[in-house]
Formats: sequence, C-alpha cells, structure tokens
Amino acid sequence: MSDGLENVVAAHTVLSEVDGAAGRLIICGHSLDELAGRTSFEKMAVMMLGDLLPDAQGVPAALGAARRELFETIVADASLPSALGPVEQMRALTALIPDGEDAATVLKLLAAPAVFTPAVLRMAKGLAPIAPDPTLSQAADTLRMLTDRAPTPEQAAALDTYLVTVADHGLNASTFAARVVASTRAGLVSAVLAGIGALKGPLHGGAPGPVIEMLDAIGAPQNARPWLEAALDRGDRLMGFGHRIYRVRDPRADALKGALRQLGADAGRLALAEAVEQAALAILRERKPGRTLETNVEFYTALLLEALGFPPEAFTCVFALGRTTGWLAHAREQIAGGKLIRPQSVYVGPRPQAAA
Ligand code: ACO
Repeated sequence: MSDGLENVVAAHTVLSEVDGAAGRLIICGHSLDELAGRTSFEKMAVMMLGDLLPDAQGVPAALGAARRELFETIVADASLPSALGPVEQMRALTALIPDGEDAATVLKLLAAPAVFTPAVLRMAKGLAPIAPDPTLSQAADTLRMLTDRAPTPEQAAALDTYLVTVADHGLNASTFAARVVASTRAGLVSAVLAGIGALKGPLHGGAPGPVIEMLDAIGAPQNARPWLEAALDRGDRLMGFGHRIYRVRDPRADALKGALRQLGADAGRLALAEAVEQAALAILRERKPGRTLETNVEFYTALLLEALGFPPEAFTCVFALGRTTGWLAHAREQIAGGKLIRPQSVYVGPRPQAAA
C-alpha cells in the first residue's frame, strides 16, 4: 500500500509523460519546449482529441459555435447563488451540459470554461455577460469577454501559451479523478466535473490565488525572507513550491516565466516575484535538506494570469480551461481501455465480536 498512491502506476497512456527526475514534460510525443509559445489551444485540442473532432481545419469555427451555443442556452438563463465562488459557479454551469461521449459534448466542454468564467465574473459585479465572438480564437475571445475590449495579439498569445502549458500532466489528481468517473461510463461531462472538483483544492490547482496573496503581503523584496520564515514557523506551506513528481524545477514554470517577459508585464512585480522565489528556494533548502522543493507551475501562473486581467479567485477556472483538453483525452483513453477503476482498501477498524 502507498499513501496518496505515490509511485503507483494506474494507467498506460499515449498522452503525456512527466519525467520528475529530469524536469521534462512530453505531451503526445512533443516536449513542452516545442509546444509552449508555438501552438494554440485549438491545435492542442486537435492533437489530443482530433480523431473525434470532425475536421481539424474546422475546429476553431466549431469551438466558436459551441461558445455561442453555451452562451445562448445556459448563460442567458443563468441565475446563480452569490454565495458560490467563481469556480463553484463555473462548475454549476458546466453541470447543465447534457452528458455524452460524442463530438458535440467534447466541443461544448472545451468551450465551457471560456464562456462561463468571464460570465460569472461579470455577473458577480452586476454586469451583463458579454456574448462570444465565434470568429476569434478561444484565447482571444476569452480575454475579450473578460475585459470587454479586444486583447492585443501578445495578450492572446500569452494566454495560449498558458493553456498549452497546462493542457496535460500525467496522472495528476484531477486527471485521475476524471479517469475514475469516465471508467464507470458516466459520460464526459461527469468526468470533467470530477476534474474541476479535484482541481480546485489548494494542494492542486487552487494554489495560484494564494501566491498573489503571498506576494501582496510581502510587498517588497527585502521583506521576503522574514515573511517566508514566519510562514514556515507557523507550519504553513509556501504556495507555488514543491511537487509530488518533479524533484527538479517544474519545466512549466520556465515556460510561463518566458511568456510573462514577452508580455512586457509589470517589471516591478516580476522583480518582487523573482526575489520571493530565490528567498523561498533558499529557505526550503535550509529547512528541508532531505527534500528537493522547487518552484512549481502555480508560481508564475499567478503572475501571468494577473497580468492578463484575471482576478485571483478565477485562476483555477483558467487552469480548468487549459486542463479540460487533457481531462477529455484521458477520459476517452480510459473508456477505450474499457476497465472500471476499482482499487481495494485494507480494513483496519474494529471487527464484530465472535458469537459466544
Ligand atoms: N512549503 C513548505 N513545506 C513543504 C512544501 C511547501 N510548499 N511542499 C512540501 N513541503 C514539505 C512538507 O511539509 C513535508 O515536510 P515533512 O516531511 O517534514 O513533513 C515534505 O515537504 C513533503 O511534503 P508532502 O506533502 O508529503 O509532499 P507531496 O509530494 O505530497 O506534496 C504538494 C506535493 C502537495 C504540491 C506540496 O509540495 C505542497 O503542498 N505545495 C504547496 C501547494 C502548491 O504549490 N500546490 C500546487 C502544486 S502544482 C499543481 O498541482 C498544478
């Protein structure tokens, strides 16, 4: 038995390989360096789900049509409890898509976070959601619906880099959750909902919001060391550091840092982040000499999504926008394999008294 299923192999996949010792990520035969900054959300969807999508050339338009359909059939009628945060609202709207395993369901699921995230953020401010423009790329349209203005090509490219970078990552917790649900043949909507549920936890995809809180609280580079020392003294974890698989630097952190630089993001904020990163790595080395705790994807995700205008409470929704491609590809691979995922547990509770 292994706590947290650490080192347990639970699937064979052609989708991605996470080499934790080398700090390398391969997706569908390509290294992350070949993909990040060089391909788009749409091309990634074709690469991972292309056998189901009707025509690779037509995918951008088909996704645009799916965004418009979701807006007209779900967002237009939506009334959501204000007590729910953006991820929970996005999850609730996604649950309204009828379950299925066909191309139409896949297109709607790929489009859903792009439409629902800007809509729930605007509705929370009492503003009317902005309708999609099916002629735009998914990244450009998401930013347009979020900010109510056309993004620059650099901004759309930076969001594409992020979405491609997080599209798939082996058997992470949310992908495993999606595969478990898919293995019961519950349908792809149910599988994606399981993925969203797992992703929102702070030990998985919910960390970048707290990274921003940490940077705001630290405020200036000279405060980094004392602030981080005090956090560890309290028993807190430093958000954006450490990873179950990577024992060297997470390659996705570098891809996102590069995108941030190309965007010409706030240089002061980047300098603060670099100072915090260096201080955190030094302190973690001193405090946990037996473990290699390095920067993970969430650290620079926080800065990139902040620079693109997303509020921290919606960062996990944008992660879901990228990762839905991976969830769907894994769910379909699981369904094709056909086997129900059903592990065993070891009972360690009290046993009934034997009859006298
Ligand atoms: N800050 C301080 N200490 C840490 C951190 C951290 N960020 N990460 C791990 N540790 C310590 C733990 O306290 C533990 O110490 P101990 O052995 O003295 O008890 C040791 O390192 C091992 O920690 P585990 O939780 O067993 O390691 P695991 O591999 O399960 O953890 C995880 C991975 C959950 C990501 C962890 O590093 C963490 O909590 N990081 C902070 C949250 C974060 O950044 N999450 C995003 C991850 S990336 C992603 O999911 C997309």
